Amino acid sequence: MNDILTGLDHHASLPAAQQPIWPNSDEVAKVRAELAKQPPLVFAGEVDQLRTRLAEAAAGRAFLLQGGDCAETFADATADRIRNRVKTLLQMAVVLTYGASMPVVKMGRMAGQFAKPRSSNDETRGEVTLPAYRGDAVNGYDFNLESRTNDPWRMLKAYNTSASTLNLIRAFTQGGFADLRSVHEWNRGFSENPTNIRYESLAKEIDRAIKFMAACGADFESLRTTEFYVSHEALLLDYERPMTRIDSRTGNPYDTSGHFVWIGERTRQLDNAHVDFLSRVRNPIGVKLGPTTSVDDVKSLIEKLDPKLEPGRLTFISRMGASKVREELPKLVEAVRDLGAQPLWITDPMHGNGITTKNGYKSRHFDDVMDEVRGFFEVHQSLGTIPGGIHVELTGDDVAECLGGSEKIDEATLEERYESLCDPRLNHSQSLELAFLVAESLRKI
Ligand code: TRP
Ligand code: MN
Repeated sequence: MNDILTGLDHHASLPAAQQPIWPNSDEVAKVRAELAKQPPLVFAGEVDQLRTRLAEAAAGRAFLLQGGDCAETFADATADRIRNRVKTLLQMAVVLTYGASMPVVKMGRMAGQFAKPRSSNDETRGEVTLPAYRGDAVNGYDFNLESRTNDPWRMLKAYNTSASTLNLIRAFTQGGFADLRSVHEWNRGFSENPTNIRYESLAKEIDRAIKFMAACGADFESLRTTEFYVSHEALLLDYERPMTRIDSRTGNPYDTSGHFVWIGERTRQLDNAHVDFLSRVRNPIGVKLGPTTSVDDVKSLIEKLDPKLEPGRLTFISRMGASKVREELPKLVEAVRDLGAQPLWITDPMHGNGITTKNGYKSRHFDDVMDEVRGFFEVHQSLGTIPGGIHVELTGDDVAECLGGSEKIDEATLEERYESLCDPRLNHSQSLELAFLVAESLRKI
């Protein structure tokens, strides 16, 4: 792969929303030059492979599971925490594979999810106003001037932390940890817990299927390993641009900071830098669509980002909110269908369902999350289109950030185990529960 992409830098003059104000532009230039010298985190061949997998999902022959932290932190990039997240995603994937009778494309919101868009540049607490926390790639969470000052060298640390996270993910998923049979054993721990009695019969079915395979002597390589992709929001252009390289095989630019990158509601303006950047890289890409998205918006996004209607290229991540998905989503899906486009549609049932609890926590109700997932499936079912996956914020640890679930997490419990620096995540048990419920809906279609 080649060095920094001058073609992309050429377009650096377009307006870009949500970029940090760096204190010193010479330092930013140094960091960019340094990033441009680092080895790619992912290989173009893997990225192409993911595109074909997502094309399968868009055609209804696979299902995408994308999940991880709202914001990764440097402090939480430990072996234990990374293992727990990978483990949770794999456990969900087994259940979904069975429910859908289809391959599940496993993708972490991991190894690069270090930057956050914010509604305001500053945060005020009492008398003190400081720059808002924009993710560990930009500044620190602690509320003091030193920590909150934007520091471009943090982007290099984000690169290194992504590299070590991805290394561990590759080791886990290729080295025996992800063996289907051990992942299933972990799931038994969940379904045998009396609070999860509701999921016992599906878990038993999976158990029988696995015993059947074992009795037949099935013991092939594909039971022992699994493909696992990484993704993050392509928010910080000072990071994504220098990580973009020309693939020497094909001459095409790839953003080598992750296999899949997406842009959010706040950066998807058609004439701005983020859409322009995504239009130039060969990675499969995603765009979040909230409840105010118009038919014209989706049409123009397709024109800009996927003019050749290439299978697997574009994923629309719908985040309407449980109370709006049934009203707002159909017109978009219909218009896209009538264009003859077949992007991958997935649901993000997290971001449209935020609440603030009486005791002051940002939270989400497990029932609202599930309701949005159901609404998403209903919409696609009635239009004859394909609900191709889910995008969730989760952690593998036993936190209490989202309300409800079979453990009935209530507002008081949030005070004991709330750890997220950003949005509330499903905990390990809520994540598995979601997988069981989605598996039940999938087998009905
Ligand atoms: N290789 C297959 C797959 O990725 C089966 C498999 C192995 C698997 N380990 C897994 C599936 C862990 C889900 C989770 O689908
Ligand atoms: Mn979030």
